[in-house]
Amino acid sequence: MELFPIEKRAGLSREEFIEQYLKPKKPVVLTDLAWQWPATQKWTFDFLIEHYGHLEVPIIGPDYHKPGPTYMKSNIKMTLGEYLNLIRKEPTKYRLFLWNILDHAKELTQDVHNPDICDGWVDAYPFMFFGGAGSVTGMHYDIDCSHVFHTHFWTRKHIVLFDQTQNPYLYRHPFTVQSHVNPLQPDYEKYPALKRATGLETILQHGETLFIPSMWWHYIVYLDGGFSLSLRARDGLMGSARGLFHIAQHFVVDKSMNALMAKTWKSWKEQQAQKNAAMALEV
Ligand SMILES: [Fe+2]
Repeated sequence: MELFPIEKRAGLSREEFIEQYLKPKKPVVLTDLAWQWPATQKWTFDFLIEHYGHLEVPIIGPDYHKPGPTYMKSNIKMTLGEYLNLIRKEPTKYRLFLWNILDHAKELTQDVHNPDICDGWVDAYPFMFFGGAGSVTGMHYDIDCSHVFHTHFWTRKHIVLFDQTQNPYLYRHPFTVQSHVNPLQPDYEKYPALKRATGLETILQHGETLFIPSMWWHYIVYLDGGFSLSLRARDGLMGSARGLFHIAQHFVVDKSMNALMAKTWKSWKEQQAQKNAAMALEV
């Protein structure tokens, strides 16, 4: 497998971004997109704990993809203050992302602006993600098939990306947008086709924004405990249609089959992923 560095750029005009990155769906780290946001100065651990530490939050453990009743659900509760103190003190696999602080603290949305670098912003407000040092966001692409602008705060995240041409080597589970490969510690015995994959990588630092074009796979490791924010922009009508199709597959097929036959369904998905990759290796 080969991973190449993602370009880091500053001072891009709207026209330059659209022509060089948005239209060709090419990832880029925009180092100055979030500079003007109050959020990049104001949203420290101490600030969030002082103002929102009392809120109860649903935490996700490393068994998020385990088949059965907790499949893709939270089963741990603590306060935001307890969680933020934990992730800034020591490594932990716990993450927080099904619960959006911005739903509970709408005043924070005034600290972030939709950039004028492109159009089609999806949400009235963005979405936040938190993770402890060493915690992992497994390989997936976003189910709604929109473009993502992912800004990180204070600490560091290692992010690996692959485009859709790499699908034959990535062991995607059918009826999902997920894979269980780890591109940073590849297991070539279990996933031999992964050797042929070519991707991109970067270490995202404070205030930097990674443009993840629609349907690009991403695998993320929090190098330190920290938090990020995503803005989303539509990828045209076709992107929205693809998103609806993926969402239907996930909620109708994948979740129903998990409820009916948890472990058998997971094994079937893994076998199919192996079969598809074996076919790719024969080519
Ligand atoms: Fe994602």
